[in-house]
Amino acid sequence: MSSPIRDAMATSDVLITVGSGGVGKTTIAATLALRAAMEGTGSMVCTIDPAKRLANALGLEALGNKEARIPDETFGAAGLLPRAPMYAMMLDIKRSWDDLVERRAPPDKREKILNNRFYQALSTALAGSQEYIAMEKMWELHEQAKYPLLVVDTPPTAHALDFLDAPNRILDFLDNDAAKWLLTPALAAGKFGLKLFNLGGSYVAKTIARFTGTETLQQLADFMLNITSLTDSFRERAHQTRSLLQAPSTAFVLVTGPMPERVDEAVYFHTLLQQNKMRVAAVVVNRIHAPVPDALWDEVARMGGPLQARLEQTLKENDLLATQDARGIERLRELCAPTPLVLVPRFELDVHDLKAVWETSRYLWGEAQVDAAKTTR
Ligand SMILES: Nc1ncnc2c1ncn2[C@@H]1O[C@H](COP(=O)(O)OP(=O)(O)OP(=O)(O)O)[C@@H](O)[C@H]1O
Ligand SMILES: [Mg+2]
Repeated sequence: MSSPIRDAMATSDVLITVGSGGVGKTTIAATLALRAAMEGTGSMVCTIDPAKRLANALGLEALGNKEARIPDETFGAAGLLPRAPMYAMMLDIKRSWDDLVERRAPPDKREKILNNRFYQALSTALAGSQEYIAMEKMWELHEQAKYPLLVVDTPPTAHALDFLDAPNRILDFLDNDAAKWLLTPALAAGKFGLKLFNLGGSYVAKTIARFTGTETLQQLADFMLNITSLTDSFRERAHQTRSLLQAPSTAFVLVTGPMPERVDEAVYFHTLLQQNKMRVAAVVVNRIHAPVPDALWDEVARMGGPLQARLEQTLKENDLLATQDARGIERLRELCAPTPLVLVPRFELDVHDLKAVWETSRYLWGEAQVDAAKTTR
């Protein structure tokens, strides 16, 4: 049985799961890494905000921001015996930003940046900061070249491609002309307060001061002044991560659900990835409803009584969902062609332990097939 995922693994050293919020990116990332290790390719999965029980199952909770090998006993308890080691980590956004500053800012600026309130907001809340640091981590892990396969999970984003733009957004923010025009000359002259208030008539100055207060403004000014020491390294890295994303040995696994709104998002995302010259190995359509088997319909039909009617109603609703999913699959197949689809069923329970992750991998590997409904269009 051919499997686009197996093919992608054979030809890639970085796999990135992407897609809209809640579709199963983290689950599929863990699944890819486990499968690789089981097949004899050492793997490392960098997860972002995994469901608590999955983190637990992978032994991630105790790790902080560090990579660690999943112990043989953990696999053993799930009845698994990988042929190569599997490593995992849970990316801590704030810690990773702090590490970056510690490593890259000039020594006299480090503390100033770390203690600055704008930095603290930037490193946790500014749009794109999660995505940026995820891309930084990917670059760093890839540079280390310790893992034959690196699987990178991406954060849930309102706009699916935020992580591609993140490095540029950070640069735009740092290059913000208005802020520079307002703050830098005053700072360079060493008399921030005076000069700023000399701009008294300026609409921008008045507005900013009113909204933020002078002390905050001073913090912003300090931040801009100190963080510019990092701008060049941000710029260089933005460039490098983009080339890594576009490298022939990097592949994207686009994860989606089969329902109409998810399909539209996935198609849009697929188009953007292609426009950005990024290779999409497969679209994983996750959580597909299977149609009710004939045997179950027969069984319910024999029940009689009021329960029969109620159960038949439930089965009907399930079949409607299955048919809707089948239409979604058909649309994806059409609109994402020639990218292959890989279908994963909706399991009764969440995918929260290694056994369930392994079971999921059988669908990615083409060993198990989803029983999808037929469409009647
Ligand atoms: N095929 C499936 N069947 C049943 N449950 C699933 C399936 N795939 C994923 N799940 C469950 O759905 C939940 C969301 O999955 P996951 O955390 O992987 O999504 P995500 O795309 O990473 O979300 P976020 O965008 O919030 O990061 C988890 O509890 C996971 O166990
Ligand atoms: Mg996730």
